[in-house]
Amino acid sequence: MNDQAPPIDFDAIPRSRLPALLRAMPKAELHLHIEGSLEPELIFRLARRNGVALPHASVEALRAAYAFTDLQSFLDIYYAGASVLLKEADFFDLAWAYLERAAADGVVHAEIFFDPQTHTMRGVPMEAVVVGLSHACRRAHAEFGISAQLILCFLRHLSEDEAFATLEQALVHRHHFIGVGLDSSERGHPPEKFARVFARCRALGLHVVAHAGEEGPPAYIETALDVLKVERIDHGVRCTDSPALTQRLARERVPLTVCPLSNVRLCVFPSLAQHNLPQLLAEGLCATVNSDDPAYFGGYIADNFLKTFEALPQLGAREAWQLAQNSFEASFVPAAQKAAWTARLRDVFSAAVAGG
Ligand code: HPA
Ligand code: ZN
Repeated sequence: MNDQAPPIDFDAIPRSRLPALLRAMPKAELHLHIEGSLEPELIFRLARRNGVALPHASVEALRAAYAFTDLQSFLDIYYAGASVLLKEADFFDLAWAYLERAAADGVVHAEIFFDPQTHTMRGVPMEAVVVGLSHACRRAHAEFGISAQLILCFLRHLSEDEAFATLEQALVHRHHFIGVGLDSSERGHPPEKFARVFARCRALGLHVVAHAGEEGPPAYIETALDVLKVERIDHGVRCTDSPALTQRLARERVPLTVCPLSNVRLCVFPSLAQHNLPQLLAEGLCATVNSDDPAYFGGYIADNFLKTFEALPQLGAREAWQLAQNSFEASFVPAAQKAAWTARLRDVFSAAVAGG
């Protein structure tokens, strides 16, 4: 269908129209930890509702603690924040708040990470987590037209046996999630530590993704692909330390779910102006833009697009189109659905060319 469609005249879209276009264009969000969308206001509301004591006196004091030096310094605060999540209704409220914001940012489809071990190790039933999140996804589809699916992440600082136990518990709710991922502290916990549990997940027909190459070396990206056989790499930005790997990712169209604001907050890059997103696109990688943990890193997906494009003048309307198109290509949905979103993308870009 799109082979016949006339080309978009990207050069006819002035830079002044870019912010509105970036916000309005349909896009998929593929790297979002639902616990990372827990805003300080909701932390305080849930703490009151559940009678949980917090170490910070106010929302402002909590926000002031969000000064991170690396991934681990963030994870310590992120896991502490999640301690207010206890009941199914808490997980519903959390996901609902994210989905409302995502829909306002032009997200038509979200594949949402959740970390069950963060909750089950505190005695929260797996069912409360999965059913609360899933209910919000279903209701948001009905109310906002956004499609949303869940990806269960294993915490890589824990053992593979614990991942197996988590998987077995979650399989009771198999119909509520589409895949598994791997997150938490990367350095010292290479993907191959989880070879057997990922093999089991693949055999069960689950999609498989993994964080790799955020702080870890290019070798972690390679073993995520070759040992875990993942379909996407989360982050992956350190691939450019290895030209051969970068070429491989381009050749094989392995999607990278890049999170620019996260990378700057966690000191993976010194500033947005020094981010390698333009290089990844120029080298033909299927890179996408995502928010990772928006409550902690200063913005949801539209902010990630707007701030990144503002800092990097090499990024214009052509790259905006490419990133949205890549997000559809990289998503786990049928080809007909991807084509329908591409057609919507074309309508939005055609209106921008015409001056809308
Ligand atoms: N990296 C690893 N683990 C995480 C992240 C991240 O960016 N966010 C939440 N858990
Ligand atoms: Zn992440």
